[in-house]
Amino acid sequence: MAKTGEADADAFVEWFRAAAPYIHAFRGKTFVLAFGGDSLLRPDFVDLVYDINLLNALGVRLVLVHGVRPQVEERISEEAQYVRGRRVTDAATLEHVKDAVGSVRVDLESLLSVGLPNTPMAGAEIRVASGNYVTAQPAGVVDGVDLLFTGEVRKVAVAAIRDRLAAGEIVLLSPIGYSPTGEVFNLTLEEVATHAAMALEADKLVFILDHGDTVDAQGRRVSRLTASQAQRLLKELPEGDMKLYLPFAAQACKKGVGKAHLVSADVDGALLMELFTHAGVGTMVTRMSVENIRPAGIDDVGGILSVIEPLETEGVLVRRSRERLEQEIDNFFVDELDGRIVGCVALYSFAEVRAGEMACLAVDPTFRRGGRGDGLLAAVEEAAREQGLKHIFVLTTRTAHWFIERGFVLGGPDDLPAPRKAMYNWQRRSKVLVKDLEAA
Ligand SMILES: CC(C)(COP(=O)(O)OP(=O)(O)OC[C@H]1O[C@@H](n2cnc3c(N)ncnc32)[C@H](O)[C@@H]1OP(=O)(O)O)[C@@H](O)C(=O)NCCC(=O)NCCS
Repeated sequence: MAKTGEADADAFVEWFRAAAPYIHAFRGKTFVLAFGGDSLLRPDFVDLVYDINLLNALGVRLVLVHGVRPQVEERISEEAQYVRGRRVTDAATLEHVKDAVGSVRVDLESLLSVGLPNTPMAGAEIRVASGNYVTAQPAGVVDGVDLLFTGEVRKVAVAAIRDRLAAGEIVLLSPIGYSPTGEVFNLTLEEVATHAAMALEADKLVFILDHGDTVDAQGRRVSRLTASQAQRLLKELPEGDMKLYLPFAAQACKKGVGKAHLVSADVDGALLMELFTHAGVGTMVTRMSVENIRPAGIDDVGGILSVIEPLETEGVLVRRSRERLEQEIDNFFVDELDGRIVGCVALYSFAEVRAGEMACLAVDPTFRRGGRGDGLLAAVEEAAREQGLKHIFVLTTRTAHWFIERGFVLGGPDDLPAPRKAMYNWQRRSKVLVKDLEAA
């Protein structure tokens, strides 16, 4: 028994240490969290509410956006008319929308107010602000059909929302908007969430998926995507919330939102795992387009040297001559930003043992902490997989933790392919880190 207790304690301490940097980094950051009306009908929805409370208690500025689709459908008897995937909202339907929004909003406010002693967030007092933060305009006539009270977001009251967030309140947005002409329009939750995230320049936009998981057409989990990869993936995705939300996640990232996440509601604690662990459990979408990262050509030698030379001088990277770089240029990938090389990485293949060495990973100091290191690592992993490699390894003296946080495990010179081991520089005493590409 004691052993289990010790193991649990170790796991807890390890988990807490791993989460601590995120807790620190998230304080004061703005997250927009969107969930459909189906979420509210789940018996475990209250667990998500506790996690929302927890994020709020950690100092995250939260904007929640809820949906009402099932609640509206339950209220209307006749079949809704759809044009290009958008529901026509006539005057009668709008009444049901208002009714559903009011009821869902009150339920949510009530859940967020729960302060019972037997809940995980006992004692936390949360204030929820909701109101006319979203201005809408009619969607108009599409394919000859007037969408009537179906609207589009025109404006989000950024300053007013920021005021509420700064006061420690959670802002709750509904899928409706008001027009200066005094009308109310029905909006989609994904549009409201995306516009709010873009207007607020949110650090994160998170969609909770009620239907389907964050997997591709073959059922493989998609953990990371750039906005442009997301657009390509969309074509092959089956119907479901992933297909519905992914274009909005990509749009938000392209327009200045730090990162977008898609998380399945079926996994208990998925929101916290996605936000507080590096590996995550859902799909993370980032802005940086893969077009930036490309195989290097001979003209890139000068640019690569300008990135790696200062690091060679510091002893962080092993010195490479221009001649050697020219010879090995086909092994390199570069990250190009507005015509300037801001990062590079190389992959050397040891095909006979199905392993590859990742080397010379470097990002210009001015451009660090923007996910470029991650992007270069992803490019190498993709190339290694295409070459049929099972492992990649890296030798580093100072950056071991960066790699460990990205799924590498500490090995030793014995893990190196024989020809590489023969060249191992024992004086430099580099750490050897290995990543299993099949497990990742
Ligand atoms: C490692 C490196 C490529 C990362 O580039 P980047 O574009 O900043 O990478 P990302 O934005 O994807 O990641 C940045 C994160 O890595 C962390 N990081 C940077 N260097 C690190 C190190 N030596 N150890 C642990 N973490 C490190 C940063 O603190 C940041 O974390 P945060 O986002 O939680 O604040 C860059 O720091 C670099 O060029 N370092 C010098 C060269 C080097 O060490 N190369 C590896 C040997 S082959």
